Amino acid sequence: MAEKEIVLSGIRPTGNLHLGNYFGAVKNFIKMQHDTNAYFFIADYHSLTTHPTPGDLHGNVKQVLAEYLATGLDPELATIYVQSDLPETAELYLLLNMNAYIGELERTTSFKDKVRKQPENVNAGLLTYPVLMAADILIHKAKKVPVGKDQEQNLEMARKFAKRFNRIYNVEYFDEPIPYNFGEELVKVPGLDGSGKMGKSEGNGLYLIDDEKTIRKKVMKAKTDAGPTEPNSEKPQEIVNLFTLANIVSKPETVKFFNEAYSDCSIRYGDFKKQLAEDIVQFTMPIRERILSISADDAYLSKVVKMGAEKARESAVKTLKEVREIIGFRHF
Ligand code: ADP
Ligand code: TRP
Repeated sequence: MAEKEIVLSGIRPTGNLHLGNYFGAVKNFIKMQHDTNAYFFIADYHSLTTHPTPGDLHGNVKQVLAEYLATGLDPELATIYVQSDLPETAELYLLLNMNAYIGELERTTSFKDKVRKQPENVNAGLLTYPVLMAADILIHKAKKVPVGKDQEQNLEMARKFAKRFNRIYNVEYFDEPIPYNFGEELVKVPGLDGSGKMGKSEGNGLYLIDDEKTIRKKVMKAKTDAGPTEPNSEKPQEIVNLFTLANIVSKPETVKFFNEAYSDCSIRYGDFKKQLAEDIVQFTMPIRERILSISADDAYLSKVVKMGAEKARESAVKTLKEVREIIGFRHF
């Protein structure tokens, strides 16, 4: 059997997972573990670019790791590690930095965004963020990277650095990493405030770690209108959003029932929300329990990251050795 190609994704250790993250990304990661030679790492070096003095770096990494494991990332199937456990990445970053130009880095959209958002902390790490990301990918010679819209340019830069390395040192060493497609339409999970999307910065998240009461409270507070007065009228955005969520978590019969009730104007939003809250709770509670038990199991977490780092170091050590040889470092 042909060997599965390496597909790699970095996860920023910033905050808890919400339903948007789960249905938009994590669910596909879980599938990806079966279809590819999947590598996942927690990007703790990267997190310093925006939070250079984190209050609890280790705690943040641990929380994110526990949440991803609880949702179904499987250390037996995928290589799961912490970025800073692989110092080879940092050395490749240093080497790639010599051929990354300030002008091109300054022109990236994410750098310009960050400069706008944190003008008091425009550090060199922020500028060279795409170089570190390229090092993450190239250190394993990963073939593909799943990227959302906001990461496309970073992947483009990684391709550029790979190509440039080959040209400058006159080798055909790195392949250009390309986007990995999950193979199905990506769902966009809406928020409960009538806005477009659920997101951390939108402040409208239903988190996997939320307890039952919190979920119910958030859902019951969801924005609704006065209700339909004409049969078969079109739904306003906030009601479409509720149905979109129901489509994701509820049984088809439930969605059908409330859809019909909407069409004949008999719908009671209170009942609809109660049912929706119930279905979300049914989905999130087992995950919440697993998050809590995994976060309390330091021995398990330590075993997972050790195993991941060991596996990841195999390709990292090899690549770095070859890169050093190509550039011309020799031992005396
Ligand atoms: P957040 O909005 O919580 O800051 P991130 O920007 O960190 O989310 O995104 C992490 C991953 O989750 C990305 O792959 C992104 O596409 C996905 N994601 C985030 N919010 C949603 C959403 N509402 N619907 C679908 N996918 C989402
Ligand atoms: N920049 C990515 C994000 O913000 C995280 C990341 C770091 C990453 N290194 C990576 C993603 C390498 C894919 C490959 O989400």
